[in-house]
Amino acid sequence: MIGESPSLVAWSLSEPRPADLRSFLDVHADAYECYGSGKVALRDGLAPLSEPGENVLLPAYLPDAVAEPLAELGLEARYYAIEPDLSPDLADLESRVDEGTVAVLTVDYFGFPTPDFEAVAALADERGCYHVDDNAHGALSVHDGTLLGTRGHLGIASLRKLFPVPDGAVLYLGDDGVADRYEPTALAGVADGVDAGDCRFVLKSLAADLLDRNALVKESVESIAGRRGGAGDPGERYEAAKTRMSRLTARVVADVDPSGVRAARRTNYRVWRRLLRDRSDVEPLYETLPEGICPQVFPVRAERPRRLLAALERGGVEAHTWPRLPAVVRGGPAYGTARRLSREVVALPVHQHVEPSAIEEAGAALRR
Ligand SMILES: Cc1ncc(COP(=O)(O)O)c(C=O)c1O
Repeated sequence: MIGESPSLVAWSLSEPRPADLRSFLDVHADAYECYGSGKVALRDGLAPLSEPGENVLLPAYLPDAVAEPLAELGLEARYYAIEPDLSPDLADLESRVDEGTVAVLTVDYFGFPTPDFEAVAALADERGCYHVDDNAHGALSVHDGTLLGTRGHLGIASLRKLFPVPDGAVLYLGDDGVADRYEPTALAGVADGVDAGDCRFVLKSLAADLLDRNALVKESVESIAGRRGGAGDPGERYEAAKTRMSRLTARVVADVDPSGVRAARRTNYRVWRRLLRDRSDVEPLYETLPEGICPQVFPVRAERPRRLLAALERGGVEAHTWPRLPAVVRGGPAYGTARRLSREVVALPVHQHVEPSAIEEAGAALRR
């Protein structure tokens, strides 16, 4: 079975690593703070910069819960339309900026740099608002020598998208003025001790690895242990994300080898790309894998996503469509592209604990 996330067990059995995430961040980011989740990092980053009643522009192709921290700050989440290549629809975005716009957020989807970053940065400068670089998916992606997430006035990265950890995020304070105004709250930093959540995650990871071949039992283990970021309405998921970075996460990321993780994910990405190259019903979202990019997944647009997911499941691959859209996007006339993408984009796992040979085998099963 090729799981969607890297394994804590595989991590614990691997060799000591030469570098760690902190050193990597120290090299690439001027000022940053650790958090339990990207959503809370976003809240604390925006809190000193905004007033209740102002608005933040977000791309329509976004998980519903990302707007929750804005709601907590009394800010309106205002969604702009996107293009099929995931770039912002610049005309739509610009038409939604007004006096009350405090920030525009762009997303480096799946660890790839957002197209038109500079155009949005210029617009934000011109209209006097902040630019948030949301790199939730690709904490290790470096583009033209710059770590994604650090390119805006502020930015975020989420660690559980790449590593076998229960939580974890980074808030980047890329702009001196933003860094000066930043005030850490009780949710900034790392928790003091190991808690029940850490233990639950370890037990769940062990059980999931042991029971990997028995989907039914695994399903029950997951429901007992609590799904990571899955169930519940967006507000509940946000409340559950209000923790500091756990000791367990800090311990695991103190020991990751950023270049090894990136290399493994890139290799797996290329294997998927080769295996699916000849399928006319499946199209990779990105034509190239630029140097320095650490893909979160191999994202494809599928003509018949349900059929692809069923075939992947038969081949032992856990995959999913992405994301669960906000209610206003599910209903809004301007958001047809975001809706179509959320139905058609299937995210295939490339994580560092999948062997390329396992992907080859799954690919062979897909062809049968
Ligand atoms: C684009 C994007 N931004 C922000 C977040 C929030 O990150 P976290 O789950 O660490 O709160 C997510 C979560 O999926 C995301 O996909």
